[in-house]
Amino acid sequence: MSGEGAPPEGAPGPLVSAFRAARGRTAPQFTIPGHKGRIGEIEPELMGPLAADLPLHGGLDTPKLARGNLLESERMAARHFGADWCRFGVGGSTQANLALCLALGRPGDRVIVSRALHRSLFSGLVLSGLEPVWVPPSAHRATGLPLGITPSALRRAVARAPDARAVILTDPGYLGTLSPISELARIAHGAGMALFVDQAWGAHFGFHPALPGHALALGADALVTSVHKTGLGHTQASLACARTGRLDLARLERGFDATHTTSPAGSVLASIEGSLTLMAARGEELLGRALGLVREARRQLQEALGPVGLPDESQFPGPEGPLFDPLRLVVQLAPLGADGRAVEGEMLRRGVAVEYADRDLLAPVVTLADDRDTVGRLVREIVRAVSATGRGPARPARPPISWRVRPEVAMSPREAFFAGHERVAWQRAAGRVSAELVAPYPPGIPVLAPGERISAHHLRVLRAAARGGARIAYATDPFLSWLDVVSD
Ligand SMILES: Cc1ncc(COP(=O)(O)O)c(C=O)c1O
Repeated sequence: MSGEGAPPEGAPGPLVSAFRAARGRTAPQFTIPGHKGRIGEIEPELMGPLAADLPLHGGLDTPKLARGNLLESERMAARHFGADWCRFGVGGSTQANLALCLALGRPGDRVIVSRALHRSLFSGLVLSGLEPVWVPPSAHRATGLPLGITPSALRRAVARAPDARAVILTDPGYLGTLSPISELARIAHGAGMALFVDQAWGAHFGFHPALPGHALALGADALVTSVHKTGLGHTQASLACARTGRLDLARLERGFDATHTTSPAGSVLASIEGSLTLMAARGEELLGRALGLVREARRQLQEALGPVGLPDESQFPGPEGPLFDPLRLVVQLAPLGADGRAVEGEMLRRGVAVEYADRDLLAPVVTLADDRDTVGRLVREIVRAVSATGRGPARPARPPISWRVRPEVAMSPREAFFAGHERVAWQRAAGRVSAELVAPYPPGIPVLAPGERISAHHLRVLRAAARGGARIAYATDPFLSWLDVVSD
């Protein structure tokens, strides 16, 4: 991070400096947290999980925040993003998405939303009372990957809802595909709407010339990102920033404060600053290395596995650059006739976890923290696990239901969330309106959401996914023998 009043490039900012100073402190503290960093004297086992814990209040700053360290760090981040407003969060992009939804409009206002949204945005719609006009996702013909939103799809949605207050996109998609944000921003702005991008998986964007710019640089009015996903933040670290031309600064502040803890972990906040500082100073070098490792991994996998599918940016041309994140490694196993779930199981047995696996593909997350050794091991483990679990005849990829959701909307998310409900056996659920949110996780896209009509197809596909080992999150019964529906 750089800018007026900022420390020299790469030097620790106010939060990381305060973290270091507080860790060196020997005087006793009479503030929370209750463990006071001294619990090791009573129970050494507990010290591990608590080792890095320091609060903001009374840790990184005085209990009354007299030094303004967080404010200063957030201002530096705002300058980096070219934003008027920036907040660091300790509740992941989940909390930041809730906050933004509370800032976009008033209950009953319409917003245009990509249906490939994460469940946290859906919760934001419930909290805010915003009414979604859905833009359904589409799939890439050659790879089956879920695509971003096209300009023509957004124009159609704008024509259906010219009164909408804002457009909400999830970009990049879970498997690295992108929307042409600059063009979508022009369309949204031309229709008088703000553009908000949930960029949870794009914390590295804008830090290397081969990567897309971050959403604000491409014309969006607000973005949210999980610094803990593809950045270097502590788990739960996130950031939200916005320009205030089309958004109200006071509402952004209130939305953030309303959804955020009053006791944020200083260790998480300091890690956000540390991640941004390092990426600004050395992002090009470190991300350049990571991008090279991903390219090399694709080459080695191709060599070892033959007809495996390895989507890259060359398959996703766009008007202003490729519509695919070159850091995203996606390994499509359908052409090998291998089963991604079995491959994942075999890799887990040897202690190697990948972020996402379904029948047809694996999506390991490679970041700038990886090196030749870790990525080399990843490639060897994938090749070994494919060989151990066996291949079969090539089959066409069948994108999971998460990327093909076409909801039949019966009532608004908020209305359904607060409606009377009852529990019914799955055999009696088709045709009823869901009172609950059901999302295979990852990717956490609601396949069924409050207010949407349940179909026999939903039940068949979701129950089969549960039987196949997918984690069906948030459902009252994760095996969907029972569902909560809105009372008639
Ligand atoms: C698109 C998207 N948005 C938001 C989130 C929530 O992020 P977090 O886990 O940081 O709360 C996720 C999590 O996977 C996500 O994929």
